[in-house]
Amino acid sequence: MEKLYKKLLDNNKKWVKKQLAQDPQYFKNLAKGQTPEYLWIGCSDSRVHANTITGTDPGEMFVHRNIANMVVHTDMNMLSVLSYAVEVLKVKHIIVCGHYGCGGILAAMGNKQVGLIDNWLRHIKDVYRYHHKELDAIADENEKAKRFVEVNVMEQVHDLGKTSIVQNAWKNKQPLHVHGWVYDIHDGIIKDLNVTFTCTKDLHSVYHLD
Ligand code: CO
Repeated sequence: MEKLYKKLLDNNKKWVKKQLAQDPQYFKNLAKGQTPEYLWIGCSDSRVHANTITGTDPGEMFVHRNIANMVVHTDMNMLSVLSYAVEVLKVKHIIVCGHYGCGGILAAMGNKQVGLIDNWLRHIKDVYRYHHKELDAIADENEKAKRFVEVNVMEQVHDLGKTSIVQNAWKNKQPLHVHGWVYDIHDGIIKDLNVTFTCTKDLHSVYHLD
């Protein structure tokens, strides 16, 4: 037990040493502040690490993660991260990245009651209902889950566009692109779903905010 967690602190010491060997100013420079150009909204899954899979370093990406990379409009945590990233850090790209084999998506496909988390999964189930015609028609459960992951990412891109935070940035001519990606845990490849939103016109007019 002790060993398991002490390993992390030992690793930290080794990492600091390595960084300083490469660049004695490394921490001094990082401590000056952050100017990341990306906001990453990804799944909490331990296998989908934003920096590792995109080859980015500390300081390059502002990150928010939750189960199944959801953009829930009553989630103060997500809204605060989004607001700070867009209004203060002025990130240029927001990336929603889902992943195949997502436990949240698989749980949302099932009917088993799992407890508190059911309230979170319900938001994912809503995505299934919007796309039920397409998803119900896929007989293979694995293929159905994969497509569910993809349409879920598309809906979260939409959901970001619906926020006043993103729409106000567009209104102020702030360059801001919202992308939808899926990471494949089987081969490490990220697929761009090409559902990028760049202005309010990409949304149905019912969502437009004046
Ligand atoms: Co997941």
